[in-house]
Amino acid sequence: MLNKHEKIETNAILLLVLILITVAIGGLVEIVPLYTIESTIEKVQGVRPYTPLELAGRNIYLREGCYNCHSQMIRPFRDEVERYGHYSLAAESMYDHPFQWGSKRTGPDLARVGGKYSNEWQAAHLIKPQEVVPESIMPPYPHLLAHELSMPDIDAHLRTVRTVGVPYSDDMIQNAASDLAGQADPNGDHEALLARYPKAAVGDFDGDPAKLTEMDALIAYLQILGRMVDFTDLETQDLLQ
Ligand code: HEC
Repeated sequence: MLNKHEKIETNAILLLVLILITVAIGGLVEIVPLYTIESTIEKVQGVRPYTPLELAGRNIYLREGCYNCHSQMIRPFRDEVERYGHYSLAAESMYDHPFQWGSKRTGPDLARVGGKYSNEWQAAHLIKPQEVVPESIMPPYPHLLAHELSMPDIDAHLRTVRTVGVPYSDDMIQNAASDLAGQADPNGDHEALLARYPKAAVGDFDGDPAKLTEMDALIAYLQILGRMVDFTDLETQDLLQ
């Protein structure tokens, strides 16, 4: 056996050919199975496109650079799952362009922050984080409350995201402008909006029902994070058992 190996080790061409064969087999074993599955994204109930207001909030999240300190990806490790909840599924980010995964966490992961705090808490925290979390090093974002939300082209925005695969229906696009304002209107009729976008948080978000601000949009977005999928009836629930 050792003699034979000497032959390989002293013959560069033979060594090269055998390396190539070995690597090719390894590569095929990794790659071929991928062709036999339809999608690498598991099918999950409940994931839907963002409402126009959530989408506007998501744009603000990106504009303000929140991703520099916050990831939206809970890894499948016990410590993360115990702290944040069920690990993130690929399907939960499938309508995110671009997705907000990452490993840079100066602040906590936000993948499941939706519903964790009240709207009042979120607004107070964004205006001055140290007001609610004294030791926080998060910067304040009070300007979001002063800026009225201006998205006259929201329907074009939805149409654009549709071209990259987010399934916005014609109905959703037609109603984009009224849904944008309607979601944050505490006195509005939200029935049609909730039929289009189940589980959307509705009502005033920023504490000022008279105005539709960037703060309304950002909080509407934060409040849906991680809430679309119902994990109580998902098989993968057994991670902690
Ligand atoms: C410089 C880093 C930094 C930036 C930028 C930043 N944050 Fe934070 N964030 C933190 C830290 C640190 C905490 C933990 C302390 C606290 O709760 O304030 C935190 C906490 C949070 C929490 C509470 C999470 C929880 O589970 O308790 C939310 C929500 C949040 N940030 C949202 C945002 C949003 C939205 C933005 C952008 C507008 C943003 N953050 C920008 C550092 C940052």
